[in-house]
Amino acid sequence: MSLLSVQELSVSILSDDGAARELVSKVSFDIEAGKTLGLVGESGCGKSLTAMSILDLLPKPQARRSHGKLIFNGETISTAAPSRLRQIRGKNIAVIFQDPMTALNPVQTVAQQIIEVLNIHFPKLSRRKHRERALELLHEVGIPAPEERLAVYPHQLSGGMRQRVMIAMALACEPDLLIADEPTTALDVTIQAQIVRLLKRLQEKNGMAMLFITHDLALVSQLSDHIAVMYAGKIAEYGPAKDVFSKPCHPYTQSLIAALPGINSPAKSPLLALEGQVPAIENMPPGCRFANRCRHVANICHTEIPQQDVNTNATMVACHRWKEIKQ
Ligand SMILES: Nc1ncnc2c1ncn2[C@@H]1O[C@H](COP(=O)(O)OP(=O)(O)OP(=O)(O)O)[C@@H](O)[C@H]1O
Ligand SMILES: [Mg+2]
Repeated sequence: MSLLSVQELSVSILSDDGAARELVSKVSFDIEAGKTLGLVGESGCGKSLTAMSILDLLPKPQARRSHGKLIFNGETISTAAPSRLRQIRGKNIAVIFQDPMTALNPVQTVAQQIIEVLNIHFPKLSRRKHRERALELLHEVGIPAPEERLAVYPHQLSGGMRQRVMIAMALACEPDLLIADEPTTALDVTIQAQIVRLLKRLQEKNGMAMLFITHDLALVSQLSDHIAVMYAGKIAEYGPAKDVFSKPCHPYTQSLIAALPGINSPAKSPLLALEGQVPAIENMPPGCRFANRCRHVANICHTEIPQQDVNTNATMVACHRWKEIKQ
């Protein structure tokens, strides 16, 4: 049984002209306990909206979940009351967002913030135990001199250190699932690699599942068991990471992989450079949303929405022509 099942999730945004626009369109995926799903796609394709809608953290009032069902640990959370979602958040599902500054409280020290989380989840433990655990967490996320760091405020820390504090807070409640939305994008490459190694290590230790969101396909390849590739609000391809990487079926995935430096994919060819732009939401083509950029485009692609086919690797592919163009 999967830990989190996202079934045909759609998210709509009310724009200034009063029209509701569907920015995420019937997205489905599953995350198994202890496993990582990498959600990738270009900027603006709907990754964050997908992540935020899981715990109903969408920007209100303009954004709302307009379709779909979410099941966590056997419980239908798409219809759960806000109080129940708050309980699940932190206790069972933790979220790390892209910018740690917006998530940390600028007027509280690191110690106060971590202890506050611990206090909510482990109210029976003494203050001394909370402090000890906070220290241990800072140590686990690789913060040097944790004793001194406890007393400082977020602005006194570097970006990498703040991100680590965020991770420590997320881990404080020992979640079953960590939703990490581009947790390393704002950081330089060395720190990014350190944080990814750290998340992997902590995941092995705690058996936590992860939804890891990024536009960096190379990063996702190091972390994920499964990959979902999003394009313009829809999932183009979704399957076991090793299969999606070694035998990408969707032309969009093929282009993304071909564009990765240093990966010897058979698809590597200068012809695969991805030109053009993601269609604007008010201008979505009636057929395949990738049609205007696809080197395999045929007439049908302009008129009909592709079905979600499943290939022999249990990979879902939404492309009219994937069988013909198989590499
Ligand atoms: N509050 C909002 N109001 C209006 N439009 C929004 C809002 N939030 C997101 N959008 C639009 O929804 C689309 C999807 O946004 P989302 O943030 O989910 O993309 P993303 O895949 O996370 O991109 P990135 O990689 O840049 O983080 C974008 O076109 C964005 O402009
Ligand atoms: Mg985002």
